[in-house]
Amino acid sequence: MTKFAAFMILAMVRLAVTLPAYESLAGLSEREIGEFININGVARIPNPPAPLPENDNGLKLVNDPAHPFIAAGPNDIRGPCSALNTLASHGYLPRNGAARPDQLVTGVMEGLNLGNDFAKFLVYQAFLMNGNPLTNLMSIGMKTPETGPDPPKPALVGGLSQHGTFEGDTSMTRVDAFFRDQAVFNETLFQEFTEFSTKYGFNGTYDLNAVAELRHQRLLDSMANNPELVFASPRILSAYSEAVFPTIFFVDGRLNNRQLTIDAARHFFDFQMMPADFHRQPAPVNFTIIDPLVSEIFNKHPFTPGVNKGKGNFVLMLETPSLSDFCGIYEDIVLRVIPGQYPKPTGALKQALNTNLDFFYGAVSAEHDCKQVFPYGK
Ligand code: HEM
Ligand SMILES: *[C@@H]1O[C@H](CO)[C@@H](O)[C@H](O)[C@H]1NC(C)=O
Ligand SMILES: *[C@@H]1O[C@H](CO)[C@@H](O)[C@H](O)[C@H]1NC(C)=O
Ligand SMILES: *[C@@H]1O[C@H](CO)[C@@H](O)[C@H](O)[C@H]1NC(C)=O
Repeated sequence: MTKFAAFMILAMVRLAVTLPAYESLAGLSEREIGEFININGVARIPNPPAPLPENDNGLKLVNDPAHPFIAAGPNDIRGPCSALNTLASHGYLPRNGAARPDQLVTGVMEGLNLGNDFAKFLVYQAFLMNGNPLTNLMSIGMKTPETGPDPPKPALVGGLSQHGTFEGDTSMTRVDAFFRDQAVFNETLFQEFTEFSTKYGFNGTYDLNAVAELRHQRLLDSMANNPELVFASPRILSAYSEAVFPTIFFVDGRLNNRQLTIDAARHFFDFQMMPADFHRQPAPVNFTIIDPLVSEIFNKHPFTPGVNKGKGNFVLMLETPSLSDFCGIYEDIVLRVIPGQYPKPTGALKQALNTNLDFFYGAVSAEHDCKQVFPYGK
């Protein structure tokens, strides 16, 4: 990180000589971007990390002395994801909240025992929508100059908090962007999380029953109150999988009963901290484990994707892929969402995007039979 930070400062200083403003390249012509790349190059893109070795992929104390909790300082970025926030606060990710995709994959494998394919699927998807392909850095929260000069608009490089990309409506502990900051923990919503756990969960825990009811309620709430609700691909997939994740990854691996106590939930969601003595999952968690749980909560309260045209006026979107259409959602991300930000990339930018698209497809195809699609040719 320090080496790269030094490189970035150097790059920015050099750029300042040739260009009027260095914080952002947004709005510059392709020729000017080309000059930037000629002068500074693009960051080297490391290959995705391998799975954890078999002798070190099991149960393990992860809130350990090598990874002490240190609360985020004023310059440390945190965002909408309780898992990544927590991993940054324990040093499994750079504590400042700006990270390379490979660091994110390693951090979630080591800290929470996400399976390699599953980790790559989440990270490269997010990176393509929210990261900076030229500097190979992504913010886990708001947009920041720490991810370096941006490629030309309409690229957003907005970080994970960027609404309407990975981040979307009906979150469990965050309000919809229409109302106010969509990335910040909301106590009122956490009280609802607690009530649903008390009412529907075994022994007051957030278990799969509670998940199904809360997820449904959050959708009903946004349908009734958010005039600009968007609940279509790709948001539907993250909304339903993120609801399930805490019952797996936030439960101590020694117990591993898929029943999250409110105390442990409070630690991760609110304090961005692992509970004392926390152990990760006893084996890498892959799609084979996640997919049936997502189907189970969907089947309790099925929905059709759509958007609100005013409060309470939910209009179905029959052209968007449904939650069960994993390959359709993959294609929607690659052929619609990403080209929306990178309509006609050329040169090193196109190369960087294609490299990350290949990494993304590698994860998609590991446990799902989808065919690769190419927005920018092969
Ligand atoms: C591995 C890469 C990951 C990335 C890139 C990622 C990214 C994100 C993003 C962008 C959101 C915001 C979505 C929204 O609510 O609008 C989010 C929410 C969330 N993430 Fe992650 N996440 C990752 C892994 C995980 C893991 C391993 C967990 C395990 C528990 C997790 C748990 C959650 C939860 C529970 C939320 C929902 C917060 C809420 O609705 O209140 N994430 N994540
Ligand atoms: C938290 O969410 C509730 C319910 O949506 C809302 O009324 C309240 O203003 C939010 N609080 C903050 C601090 O954003
Ligand atoms: C129910 O929760 C309490 C308090 O967290 C705990 O001590 C008890 O062991 C739990 N009971 C069962 C049957 O899991
Ligand atoms: C997924 O995880 C399960 C449980 O650990 C394991 O049995 C299975 O082989 C894994 N599948 C793949 C495709 O890695």
